[in-house]
Amino acid sequence: MSASAPPSEGLRVAVSKGRILQEALPLLARAGIVPSVGPDESRKLILPTSRADVSIVVVRAADVPTYVDYGAADAGITGKDVLMEYQGDGLYEPLDLGIARCRLMLAGHAGATATQGGRRVATKYVHTTRRFYAERGEQVEVIRLYGSMELAPLVGLADFIVDLVDTGNTLRANGLVPLEKIADISSRLVVNKAALKLKHGLVRGFVDDLRRIVAGP
Ligand code: ATP
Ligand code: PRP
Repeated sequence: MSASAPPSEGLRVAVSKGRILQEALPLLARAGIVPSVGPDESRKLILPTSRADVSIVVVRAADVPTYVDYGAADAGITGKDVLMEYQGDGLYEPLDLGIARCRLMLAGHAGATATQGGRRVATKYVHTTRRFYAERGEQVEVIRLYGSMELAPLVGLADFIVDLVDTGNTLRANGLVPLEKIADISSRLVVNKAALKLKHGLVRGFVDDLRRIVAGP
């Protein structure tokens, strides 16, 4: 899937709504990019910013790679979990922003082990889960869910889940335990490969600004 024409002049940045947006806004502000209206105060979908040449689109986490891959946004901010699951190839991932940190885990009932017992795994991370088991040479049935994965083992839909874990509170509250870490997760800056060439100065400047901010004191 390669990128089509990049959006207009200027830089359009797609940011995952919710917790990533909340943690990304202070980083963007330090780069001089502040939405002219708060994302929660407006129904506008393209937010102008304090920089005339930069706009922000706030979209669902899983949609960020699609906007950037197709060149509808020049750059994007989303979780590594989402990027691991995405199948396109028009993205360049230059920077770990170190925000929205958590872990992608295999989890299940206490006492279960990762290789024991049932063979059904519920998750919204279907490709990542298939890869994880394929690398171990094990076969499982992967059941796609779109949320509340922790429910699946409680009602007999699946034996295990693959989901994000931060404090572990959600697992604990449902009598589940983490069994094996699949990946450390944080949010990443992604860039459309064509935009990197066609808007080199603008895109490179944005990446370098964020790199300095993330590295700095
Ligand atoms: P949608 O609402 O579009 O279905 P979602 O429910 O996955 O998406 P969030 O739960 O806000 O949206 O998660 C968005 C991203 O935030 C995830 O892809 C992940 O990178 C990160 N994230 C999710 N849960 C946590 C958590 N508990 N701690 C830290 N980061 C998290
Ligand atoms: C995420 C994730 C887990 C939970 C883990 O859900 O899907 O359910 O966080 O965090 P914890 O280990 O600190 O409990 P979120 O809170 O984003 O709700 P969601 O189901 O709407 O995605």
